Amino acid sequence: MKFFIDTANLDQIREAQDLGILDGVTTNPSLMAKEGISGKEAILNHYKTICEIADGDISAEVLSTTYEEMIKEGDELAAIHPNIVVKIPMIKDGIKALKYFSNKGIKTNCTLIFSAGQALLAAKAGANYVSPFLGRLDDISVDGMNLIEEIRIIFDNYMFETEILAASIRSPMHIINCAKIGADVITSPLDSILNLLNHPLTDKGLAQFVADAKKMS
Ligand code: G3P
Repeated sequence: MKFFIDTANLDQIREAQDLGILDGVTTNPSLMAKEGISGKEAILNHYKTICEIADGDISAEVLSTTYEEMIKEGDELAAIHPNIVVKIPMIKDGIKALKYFSNKGIKTNCTLIFSAGQALLAAKAGANYVSPFLGRLDDISVDGMNLIEEIRIIFDNYMFETEILAASIRSPMHIINCAKIGADVITSPLDSILNLLNHPLTDKGLAQFVADAKKMS
């Protein structure tokens, strides 16, 4: 399973990259705005910097919602760096844009996926990734993990190459359950990734080993 970090914060991207387990980065307009990035030049520069820090696929989301505008914007984003993946919203014009980029050999990530039917359409249009939003479904009392399971079954039935990129991750349990189901990728805030490290018996055991090590030296 690939680990992407879901942020536009450069320090967090550096920290995840330094850990040595990072496979890519996802961003969205909300995450970019949170970092105070505004204006076309600043946006393109920020994505360039992310590509210089992190290896792997870097999702850069279009801000427009019509086919013509999305393909113009996506072409500009894709020109920044070979690792850029154009992130397209799950709307009718988005499906057309996914097909356009697929025909051009430009990688895409279809975002705001909340149903298996949406994931199927995006895969049909040639998306490289679909991003089902787990946490936001859980927020409205719908089990987000069921959606990952449904998409896994559908993609396996037809051997779609589209990867399931589980997004809107809120906890280490989301990551573990995604791994059990077979999501291809999780994209997560840094704290949920780092929380996978924690276990009180590890801390207790290490404290004992450190204490005993002192007796030997
Ligand atoms: O990048 C898309 C997704 O991961 C957003 O997550 O926490 O805003 O629902 P969240």
